[in-house]
Amino acid sequence: MTKPEIKDRVYKALAENRNYDSDFILGIPGTYLDTAQFHRDANFLEDAPFLRTFINNPNHIGCHTLTGDGGEDMFRGTQKIEVELIRMISEEIMNADAKSVDGYVAPGGTEANIQALWVYRNYYQQEFKAAAHEVAVVFSADSHYSFYKGANILGIRAFPIAVNEEDRSISKEGLSAVIEAAQKEGVKYFIAIANMSTTMFGSVDDPDLIGEVFEAKNLPYKMHVDGAFGGFIYPFTSTDSKLDFANPRVNSITVDAHKMLMAPYGTGVFMIRKDWIHYAATSEASYVQGLDYTMVGSRSGAQAVSIWMILMTHGPRGWKNTMERLIIETDKLCHALDDMGITYFRHPSLNIVSMHAPQIPKNIPSKYRLVSDNFGAEPKWWKIVVMQHTLGKVVDQFITDMREALA
Ligand SMILES: Cc1ncc(COP(=O)(O)O)c(C=O)c1O
Repeated sequence: MTKPEIKDRVYKALAENRNYDSDFILGIPGTYLDTAQFHRDANFLEDAPFLRTFINNPNHIGCHTLTGDGGEDMFRGTQKIEVELIRMISEEIMNADAKSVDGYVAPGGTEANIQALWVYRNYYQQEFKAAAHEVAVVFSADSHYSFYKGANILGIRAFPIAVNEEDRSISKEGLSAVIEAAQKEGVKYFIAIANMSTTMFGSVDDPDLIGEVFEAKNLPYKMHVDGAFGGFIYPFTSTDSKLDFANPRVNSITVDAHKMLMAPYGTGVFMIRKDWIHYAATSEASYVQGLDYTMVGSRSGAQAVSIWMILMTHGPRGWKNTMERLIIETDKLCHALDDMGITYFRHPSLNIVSMHAPQIPKNIPSKYRLVSDNFGAEPKWWKIVVMQHTLGKVVDQFITDMREALA
């Protein structure tokens, strides 16, 4: 869409929402922003659809792909944009069948991951009368810490699987041994995580390897894909992704627009196949029209609008080009590191390079704010993420500085 088309669509959606300035609204408290701080009549808001939505402050509480017209109706206009957005990501990027996925815009990848654990724990509890401690989440040791956090909150068990130090993969034998250890501790029901790019390495798990191990053992498992980092790059730069809804083993996916899509914070996205999100329903949320199925509760519709605007601006080919430029730049960086004799891990479809720390000259990490695998101890790895703002000059300067320091 062109800029005027995007603006037109967002302003029409806002006009469809109930408006505190012109409607009689007595029942819904607290969502008219303080007028001393937030000026509703500022001229620039006429040309700024995201900021206009932010100031209007529509509440997207609930899950609108599920409730549709039966949900909270005050802000139906922008909620429809969120429904369109979930369809765009799940169907056009993650290959789901039409209208086969529910989802919502979460505060971030952490909540979206924990939402998945919550749905599956409740599923095992409701359908199998499982106790929380009989449910475990298993994940590669390189996975994000949100899985430990979620297990802690939900009272389920967390079992990391050791990875191969060089290629960061998990093996069938490693997974199998972890499952058996979990079973010895009383675990009967499993939640398996497959990463579409880990945080520190950009490594990618094989969901079929994971699924085959559980299936060979005839054990109940549900698989969640953590695409918080990779979700807006890997589907555009890889040719053989198995980490989407075209794979029947995958049941839910997290992506984060506030990472590779360059959206404002507050733009995690949780997606799950139809007929699953009801396991996270809170029946006591009876004052919310259409109930609530999310962890977050009240949330601003501006976040959904921002993601929708970015995707509609670039379009599929535009975004593919943008992500491919990052891969070319990362290739360039890796060639220079090869030339300098620096060893590193890098997945060819991703823009993360983790270098073996002892080889990196002392002044470099602080100058370039590199991220270490362990800030509390002697680092083993220093990580670079090649992004839009690092293209050209920052990467080039890094290469020059590295060459000088090593010489
Ligand atoms: C792979 C992965 N999952 C989950 C998260 C958590 O995302 P957030 O910080 O948005 O909650 C991150 C954050 O870096 C991540 O890299």
